Amino acid sequence: MPPQADRHRSIGTQGCRVGRERRKPKRFCGRDSDSRKMAVRVGVLGATGAVGQRLIQLLDPHPEFEIAALTASESSAGKTYREAAKWRVDSPIPEDVADTTVTATDPDEVPDDVDLLFSSLPSSVGANVEPAFCEAGYVMSSNSSNARMADDVPLVIPEVNADHLDLIEVQRDERGWDGAMVKNPNCSTITFVPTLAALANYGLEKVHVSTLQAVSGAGYDGVTSMEIIDNAIPHIGSEEDKLETESRKLLGEFDGASLSHNSMAVAASCNRIPTIDGHLENVWVETEDELTPEDAAEAMRAYPSLELRSSPDPLIHVFEEPDRPQPRMDRTLGDGMAIAAGGIRESSFGLQYNCLAHNTIRGAAGASVLNGELLLENGYL
Ligand SMILES: NC(=O)c1ccc[n+]([C@@H]2O[C@H](COP(=O)([O-])OP(=O)(O)OC[C@H]3O[C@@H](n4cnc5c(N)ncnc54)[C@H](OP(=O)(O)O)[C@@H]3O)[C@@H](O)[C@H]2O)c1
Repeated sequence: MPPQADRHRSIGTQGCRVGRERRKPKRFCGRDSDSRKMAVRVGVLGATGAVGQRLIQLLDPHPEFEIAALTASESSAGKTYREAAKWRVDSPIPEDVADTTVTATDPDEVPDDVDLLFSSLPSSVGANVEPAFCEAGYVMSSNSSNARMADDVPLVIPEVNADHLDLIEVQRDERGWDGAMVKNPNCSTITFVPTLAALANYGLEKVHVSTLQAVSGAGYDGVTSMEIIDNAIPHIGSEEDKLETESRKLLGEFDGASLSHNSMAVAASCNRIPTIDGHLENVWVETEDELTPEDAAEAMRAYPSLELRSSPDPLIHVFEEPDRPQPRMDRTLGDGMAIAAGGIRESSFGLQYNCLAHNTIRGAAGASVLNGELLLENGYL
């Protein structure tokens, strides 16, 4: 098999969108005063939750984005962010954000000059309110699982399928929106799909994946300590279906008008274990062409990253040690945005390996921020 192309690919989808009228003018942001870069004013929906807090952590120092709105449930509305969010991430709460008043999650509550919304709402809530925001003209980069599989909603991992972003044009035509909705996949899907993308040239036929998922993936109120300490839970509601369907959509082909899903067969088994962050996955892949462990390691190492601010280099870190990657040791590779792989070997069911990603960074908040950067780079903001 030929080696992969350039490590850093261009990030255009089909060229910069020009001519679409912006809703509101951008303003200068003081954070990057040297370059006086224009910052996009952004809002976070569901800002007080596990993913919302990661979003705040990533967005506060981000030179291209400026946090201008925070929303949550009615019970948080009217409180300062400091009061409403039980801050639990591993850096201090940003002072300027801490004193911002949280509003209800309603288009009327978000300032008109906000251009991009990051959504980390429960999917049942997102299903109701996200379309209302898009209809009101906001561009939305969302974590929530609602609408991920809709035919006209791009489900994007920028390093894997940036070209799918142009489904937005189809979406706008069909829905009559000035705004737009792009989704990132489920945290467990994001962990293994980039490794499959690296092997795609060999012809993906069958994939089995078994997950060991951290408790933060269930949100702050997800599993109780009595359920998870000294335990493992071999069922995560509807998770297996997400891995099986989202992976096929991500690795599908977009012809400019519609998307066809990849024909590979995917079977998933999902388990919750008592780690805090970092989903570890065991993967078996059967390919059309012969694939040796050495070829697989080389293809993963050579798989290109992107020139987007939050895209790590390398994208996939391949370990030689058979007992790596491990959640506690390897989840922060590439500032939590890298995929780690290891234990690559032959098996009776094709190639076998393990992979790992930080579920609330690469698997959620970081994935949304990266999609925001891709939207910006391609002229959708
Ligand atoms: N955790 C992960 O690793 C992960 C990974 C990928 C995707 N996701 C997805 O990301 C989303 C958020 O997950 P999470 O783990 O951050 O959940 P979470 O910790 O439970 O946070 C939920 C957020 O939504 C707000 N909210 C709840 N009900 C609401 C309502 N009726 N109206 C408006 N806001 C409401 C909450 O506000 P209050 O504080 O006011 O209740 C909070 O800000 C989910 O769709 C999840 O599936 C999570």
